[in-house]
Amino acid sequence: MNKNILKINEMDKVIEVKAPIVEALRTAYENPTYQFHIPGHTKGKAIFKDFRKLIGEKALSLDTTDEFDNLGTLHPATGPIKEAQELAAQAFGARKTFFLLNGSTAGNLAIAMAFTKKGQKVLVNRNCHRSILTGLIISGAEPVWICPNRIEDWSIWGNIEAAQIEEMLKKDKDISMVWVTNPTYEGVVSDIKSISAVCKKYNVPLIVDEAHGCLWNFNKHLPETALKLGADAVVHSLHKTGGSMSQTSMLHISKDSCLDEKSVEKALKLLHTTSPSLILLGSLDAARANLQTKSGLKLIDKAVANAKYLRKRLDEIPNLHQLKSDFGYKTDVTKVFIKIDGLSGKRLESILEIDFGIEVESASDIGVLILCNLGNKRSDFKYLADALEKIASENHKDIYYLEKRKHMPMLEPKIVMSLRDAYYAEKETIKKEDAIGRISAEVVAECPPGISILLPGELITEEHLPYLNDYETLEVVKA
Ligand SMILES: Cc1ncc(COP(=O)(O)O)c(C=O)c1O
Repeated sequence: MNKNILKINEMDKVIEVKAPIVEALRTAYENPTYQFHIPGHTKGKAIFKDFRKLIGEKALSLDTTDEFDNLGTLHPATGPIKEAQELAAQAFGARKTFFLLNGSTAGNLAIAMAFTKKGQKVLVNRNCHRSILTGLIISGAEPVWICPNRIEDWSIWGNIEAAQIEEMLKKDKDISMVWVTNPTYEGVVSDIKSISAVCKKYNVPLIVDEAHGCLWNFNKHLPETALKLGADAVVHSLHKTGGSMSQTSMLHISKDSCLDEKSVEKALKLLHTTSPSLILLGSLDAARANLQTKSGLKLIDKAVANAKYLRKRLDEIPNLHQLKSDFGYKTDVTKVFIKIDGLSGKRLESILEIDFGIEVESASDIGVLILCNLGNKRSDFKYLADALEKIASENHKDIYYLEKRKHMPMLEPKIVMSLRDAYYAEKETIKKEDAIGRISAEVVAECPPGISILLPGELITEEHLPYLNDYETLEVVKA
């Protein structure tokens, strides 16, 4: 068989798709060697029996690193791994694509290490994922916070206006990079085309954390990817919605990017494990290949159609509301954020789970987030819509909880010390009630969505307290 070509049966026709890592793994599996190197479980032979039974001998025998012959290396990218990254770059429309282990988190850290430095001002949206904060703590760059629009009814951050960004760039000439998150965790989409035009006008690179938008390049009913709209670098969590295994993501440098990919390569070499899992890398290769087959593309069509079906059913349920595109912002149709009158999201989540065996992506105090995945069937959505219809018609109210509880804070941070200096300052741990007026020395952020309630260097105020119900103590800069 032609090396690196995978023959797959697609709608009764055999077609050829390149998936070099998948093919190299198959060859390694079919040609076993005497192994005297890591991983020491040696193709699963030395692993706890029950675990082997659970996940299967074949999976364990494929658990290899780039120490194995003929599988290529991740740093530097060689062999099938290099080829797979090149194929991914073509598929996503990038100049260069890097496969990431440790998720988009690794991508954001690498971007910060590669493209920012101590004291440099970077414009960042206040609702960024905590991995961006970690990256800026490492590099020592100074975030200048931009607060997106607030969608008060839903207690969530919304879109970012290009005009807001322009105003800040005009005001502060030292800002030399813009880093935005799109879409938001709940699927709200900003106008990246206009944001990119502003960045070009002020000659600053634009980075887009598109962790939740990796399918966008593959379906015309989904928003357009930032790679096409002028961003210089983009991260995608393929494992979130793209069909690869947990922890796997991609970092793309766009075709016309003003950034040098060699700096990212160097940063990733330092950040990545020196024992990359070929199963995880192979799953990225497989996800990309899948998205380029007819059947893979059909799966996205189905997910969009299922989302539309679900949304239509939800529209018919009295007392139930769903977040939709509105004047000023669009949404990704496959992310369905809902709420039911008088019922907190947390309570709704537990009713769905306990009474119906349904697990949703997440719950806030306000509502629950449902992801319309590639793998869900229409019958799953029928079941979910029926369950929601039933819940909305019953008396499950938890008004007391709703009144007592505060939602995701949407405060403008009062920054009194540099992010990095506060993080590395001498600290003390004190009772949260005593922390008012003190400077936070830690990132306080719940996952999901990983958006911080408090940042290092932020002044702790009374306004923060209602959002810190789950914390008894806080780490603050020593007085
Ligand atoms: C916007 C955003 N960026 C980055 C990340 C980190 O992604 P990963 O879990 O792939 O490391 C997340 C995770 O939830 C996220 O929501």
